[in-house]
Amino acid sequence: MTPSVKEISTWLKEAGATIKTSLTAELTIQEKSDRKDLVTNMDKATQRFLIDKIAAVDSSATFLAEEEGYSDQSIKKGRVYVIDPIDGTLNFVLEKENFCIMLAIFEEGVGQLGFIYDVMKEELYWGGPEVGVYCNDRQIKKVADLKLTEGLVGMNAYMYAHNRFNAYDIGEASMGVRVSGCAGIEMIAMLKGTHHSYVSNLSPWDYAAGIVLLSVFGFKYSNADGTPVKFSQREPFIIATPACYEDIFNLMAEKKV
Ligand code: IPD
Ligand code: CA
Ligand code: CA
Repeated sequence: MTPSVKEISTWLKEAGATIKTSLTAELTIQEKSDRKDLVTNMDKATQRFLIDKIAAVDSSATFLAEEEGYSDQSIKKGRVYVIDPIDGTLNFVLEKENFCIMLAIFEEGVGQLGFIYDVMKEELYWGGPEVGVYCNDRQIKKVADLKLTEGLVGMNAYMYAHNRFNAYDIGEASMGVRVSGCAGIEMIAMLKGTHHSYVSNLSPWDYAAGIVLLSVFGFKYSNADGTPVKFSQREPFIIATPACYEDIFNLMAEKKV
């Protein structure tokens, strides 16, 4: 049985409260692929907490999650819970804000529900195609279909600095570039309508919840080459309002780097 939205929301808030408490304690921090790619005891504990809660209710649950050997699950079959226990771990460690917990539910490869919890602001963005999109208890209205020239674009810092996929040129054509270091925070900015697009290099758990929520508002997303996202590895990723997506895609196609 799928857990209810209320149950999942309660677990996310409970996990968030535990993470907040941990900010005053000493963290155990390990490097993964390089010195900027970190995992803490709280990433692992949060993922374990959510998996245990979900598995206790949903006996057929499978998990695609960032830490501890859950990263190879296919999205295509059955009910898959996609979890990023702390999105923006570097922000969590160094800024102590601007990080999220993200969870998405897919059935037979189709997104049903997405949850992005901004832990420090205690704002839970959740919803899906059947229910609409909410921030805590307040329903959010669909945002305007802005063109690239009309709004702010969220960017991956490396791609912007190195003009990967013409990211620098895309930024120049927009009203401005913003770099938060957290995919979840970028997804929230688009749900609120403060940014109209996001260009990055993401793994499935970085985009799963965001694409479920932003699809409700008609946002378009793909790999930078225009093919569907693969849910299997890190890949160049764009998501934007429909008008902005076309503008970004055309600029990217001008010169592939
Ligand atoms: C990272 C953040 C970051 C994005 C990276 C992600 P993590 O997630 O979302 O903004 O640029 O690609 O890996 O590792 O902190 O969960
Ligand atoms: Ca993470
Ligand atoms: Ca992440």
